[in-house]
Amino acid sequence: MASKKKDGGRGQRDLKVKVKTARGRKTSSTRWLQRQLNDPYVAEAKRQGLRSRSAFKLMQMDDQHGFLTPGASVVDLGAAPGGWSEVAAKRVHSVEGEGKVVAIDIHDIEPIAGVTFLHADFYDEDAPDRLKEALGGPADVVMSDMAAHATGHRKTDHLKIIALCEIALDFACDVLKPGGVFVAKVLQGGTEHELLAQMRQFFRSVSHVKPDASRADSAELYVLAKDFRGGGEA
Ligand SMILES: C[S@@+](CC[C@H](N)C(=O)[O-])C[C@H]1O[C@@H](n2cnc3c(N)ncnc32)[C@H](O)[C@@H]1O
Repeated sequence: MASKKKDGGRGQRDLKVKVKTARGRKTSSTRWLQRQLNDPYVAEAKRQGLRSRSAFKLMQMDDQHGFLTPGASVVDLGAAPGGWSEVAAKRVHSVEGEGKVVAIDIHDIEPIAGVTFLHADFYDEDAPDRLKEALGGPADVVMSDMAAHATGHRKTDHLKIIALCEIALDFACDVLKPGGVFVAKVLQGGTEHELLAQMRQFFRSVSHVKPDASRADSAELYVLAKDFRGGGEA
């Protein structure tokens, strides 16, 4: 599941389930349903009882870069339905009381063992302080899979996700320990390069990552910033 080879680079050619258009269902919904039914990561997430197929994206990034270490303190921004939080809790051993996972989302989630969840908007004025209070100290990792509801207008969606990434970066620079890691979702399309340049001021290593589980036809990308220099807001 973790590699393109196993995934086989499955595309339209290998579709197993065809979904007929039904009255009242938009073509885009039919396309979405067909993609879900034929997505090997959706099937595997279901088989493993994971909350989201997104969980594989975090697993793959961490398998490659090893930032979710036992005992680490992690903040998960935009956590619902909880796939990333579950992966983080397992890998940092928060259930065993070694590490810590603090998560936030506008949408509520089913409780996760080893995760402190705040049901709130990250844009709320008091959200950063509430997260800090729940953390009880500096963080090793701040990760953001936050995504605003897509409008379908490429430029608007891009600006919205960059804005989310910017406030997440701001927060990361406030709470990370020196040496800490920041990982956040962005969309390909231009200004993410400016964001990257900004991140380089605060982190010694900054790169783009596209995990195999991130759909090849999606503009989604992650920025992975490692080795926080410490001291200062973005
Ligand atoms: C792609 S989903 C996250 C999936 C999650 N990583 C998982 O594995 O289950 C993006 C989430 O970002 C959340 N989100 C978007 N804007 C937000 C905000 N301002 N504050 C908190 N959460 C936000 C959405 O509610 C949505 O649940």
